[in-house]
Amino acid sequence: MTETFAHLCSPLALRHLRLKNRITFGAHTANMSEDGLPGARHLGYYLARARGGCAMIVVEPVPVHATAVLTRGNFRHQSDDIIAPFRRLTDACHQHGTAMIQQLYHVGAHGDAANSWVANWSPSGTASHHDGDGSHAMTEGEIEAVIDGFVQAGRRACRAGFDGVELFAAYNALIDQFWSPLTNRRTDRWGGPLENRLSFAVRIIEGIRRQVGQDFVIGMAISGAEPYPGGLSLADKAEICAWLDQRALVDYFTVGTGSYLNNFEGIVPSFLTEPLLGTKDAAAIKRVVRHARVQAEARIRTPANGEQVIASGGADLVSLVRAQIADPDLANKALAGRAADVRPCINCNQECIGRRLRDYWISCLVNPSVGREFAWAETEVSRSERPQRVLVVGGGPAGMEAARVAAGRGHRVTLIERTEHLGGQLRLAARQPKREEIGEFLAWLERQLTQLQVEIRRDTELSADAIAEGDYDQVVIATGARPAASGFQRALPHVARLPGVELDHVASVEDVLSGSVALGPRVLLVDDEGGWRASGTALYLAERGHRVTVLTPALQVGHHLGHTASLGLLAKALAERDVAVITSAALSAIERETVTILDLLSGRERREPFDAVVLATLPEADAGLAAALGAGGVAATAIGDCIAPRKATMALYEARKLALEL
Ligand SMILES: Cc1cc2nc3c(=O)[nH]c(=O)nc-3n(C[C@H](O)[C@H](O)[C@H](O)COP(=O)(O)O)c2cc1C
Ligand code: SF4
Repeated sequence: MTETFAHLCSPLALRHLRLKNRITFGAHTANMSEDGLPGARHLGYYLARARGGCAMIVVEPVPVHATAVLTRGNFRHQSDDIIAPFRRLTDACHQHGTAMIQQLYHVGAHGDAANSWVANWSPSGTASHHDGDGSHAMTEGEIEAVIDGFVQAGRRACRAGFDGVELFAAYNALIDQFWSPLTNRRTDRWGGPLENRLSFAVRIIEGIRRQVGQDFVIGMAISGAEPYPGGLSLADKAEICAWLDQRALVDYFTVGTGSYLNNFEGIVPSFLTEPLLGTKDAAAIKRVVRHARVQAEARIRTPANGEQVIASGGADLVSLVRAQIADPDLANKALAGRAADVRPCINCNQECIGRRLRDYWISCLVNPSVGREFAWAETEVSRSERPQRVLVVGGGPAGMEAARVAAGRGHRVTLIERTEHLGGQLRLAARQPKREEIGEFLAWLERQLTQLQVEIRRDTELSADAIAEGDYDQVVIATGARPAASGFQRALPHVARLPGVELDHVASVEDVLSGSVALGPRVLLVDDEGGWRASGTALYLAERGHRVTVLTPALQVGHHLGHTASLGLLAKALAERDVAVITSAALSAIERETVTILDLLSGRERREPFDAVVLATLPEADAGLAAALGAGGVAATAIGDCIAPRKATMALYEARKLALEL
C-alpha cells in the first residue's frame, strides 16, 4: 500500500515565506568550505537536497567572530568575501523553490582554540567542555563586539540572498550560556534576572532586524531540557521561548537535544538512543508560543516519522538532517508516494558527525556520494552510453551496491552470492542489539535490485574458469573477508598464531551472530578492533544470558567509536548488561577451561577461567578468486574487503565509484 503524507505535504506560512511542505534540511556543519569560502563541493551538496524537494534548508553556521571559529572548514568570519559565493548557492537553490536560511554561531566557552588561535570567550569564564581549557569572561566591550558580529553576519546573509538566519542558542552555546545561571554568573546588566540574561539574545535579534527589514526570517535553534544538575529545565526553556514569543522576536524555534555540557552524545543521537528523541520537548515549546513556528528534530529518521510528528500537532515543521544526508531525494520520494524508495539512514554516525569530529568534510556510510555531488551527481542519474553485461561476484554490501548502481545506469547485471542470503557481514551486524536499522538498509538495497531487474543467483559459486567462459563485458569481484583462523592480535605483532585458537570453544564474532555455535555461560570476547563488531556482539551475548567479559588492548572498549558520539552510550549499555571489561591486555594463550591474559602495562600474565572465547580480531581478505582471475588473464575489478578488510564505508564507496565509471 502506498503511504501518503498529508500533513508533511501541506504548505506552511513562515513570516513572509510560504514553505512548500514541512520538511527542513536542518543546520549542520558540513565542513566543506575551501579557503573559508563556499565552493563546488558545498554547492553540490546543498543543491542536491534542494532538488530533492525539502521546503527549507538551514545552511551550516557561519562563525560570527574570531573567537567563534570551531572547525577548519568554517567560513570566513567578519568578511564580506563570503557574500558572492553564498549568493550563487541561494540563487541555485531558490530555483527549486527552497527557502534558504543561514545559521549563525558562537559556541562561547566550548570553541576550538586549536583552530581559532584565540582564547574562548564566555559570559563568566567557565570551563570549556571541548577540551580541558578554561575560557575568558567577556568584558562589556567584548560583548558588544560579538553582538555586532552577529548583526553584521545577519546583514551579510541578507545580501547573499538568504531568506533568513537561524541563531544558534542550542547545546549551551554562547547565547544560551547567557541564559543559564550555570554559565552566566554575572552581576552586571547581562546577568541575574531572566530579562538581563536574555538581553544578549534580544540585542542580537533587534540589531539584525534593523539591518534586514521585515521580510526576513529570524529563527532560533534551542535545545530542550538539559538533563544534568543545574541545567535549564524544559519549563525554563518554555519560559524563555514564551518571553521571546510575546515580543514576536523569533519566527521559529527549532528544538534539538543534547548539550556540550555533559550530554554531547545527545546532540547527534546515535542508534543507541530512542527514536523521535526531541519530539516531546518540541511539543512543550509549541504549547507556549503564539507567533513562532516550532520545528522538531533529532532522530526523525523517515517520512513516516515526520508525518507522525506533524499530525500529532506537536510541531509545525520537522528537520531531518541525517535522513536527508543519506537520501537527498527523501522529500520528493515521500511526497510522490515512494517512501519505500527512500534510502534509510542507519544512525551510525560514522561518516557524518564521525568525519566532522575528525575535522574532515562530511560524507555518509550508506550514501558515499555525500560531498562528491559536484563530481558524481550528473553521472548518477545518467544512462551509460555503452550498456554492458556485468557480473558481480559476492552479495555483500559492496556487491549489492555495485549491482544496483550499474543496473540503474542501464547495464545488464548478474549478481551471484555463494550463500542463500544477501547482505554479507552487514546482515550479521543487523542482529546486534538496536541495529535493526542496518536491516532496513539491506532490505532497501534488495528492493532496488529487484526493481532494477538485476538477476540474483543465490547459493552460487563460479570458478575462475567458469567466469572466463561466461559472456561478460565486466567482472566485479566483491568476495569480502572472512574471520582469520590465526587469532592474530595487533597488540602482539610478533605472535602470528594465538596458541589454542584451534580449540572447540573458540569462535569468531561471525560464528556467534550467524547462530552457528553454542557457547557456555562465561564468555571472553577479544576486541582487537575497537568498533561495533566486538562491542555489539558483547551486547548481543549479554542479552542472551551469557556472562560476558571484553578484553581490549586499548584503554577502553570501542576506542575507535569516540568520533561517532556513541562511546558513553556504549559504556552505559555494557554496564547495564553487567559486561565486565579488561583493558590494556592481550591474550597469550587459550587453554581448555582457562585463558592466559597478558597485562600490557605490567607485562605480567595471569590465568582466568572461561567457558568460551570469541574473537573480534582482524579478518582476512577473501582474495582467492580475484587472484585466480588475474593469473588467468581475465579482466576483473576487485572492490571492498577482498582488497583489504575495512569498514563498510569503503566497500560502498568503491562499489559506487566503480559502477559510475562503467
Ligand atoms: C555532521 C553534523 C554536524 C552538525 N552540526 C550542527 C551545527 O553546526 N549546528 C546545529 O544546530 N546542529 C548541528 N548538528 C545537529 C543537527 O542539526 C541535528 O540536530 C542532529 O543531527 C539530529 O537530527 P537528525 O536525527 O535529523 O540528524 C549537526 C549534525 C551533524 C550530523
Ligand atoms: S553516516 Fe550513518 S548516521 Fe550519518 S547520515 Fe549516513 S547512515 Fe546516517
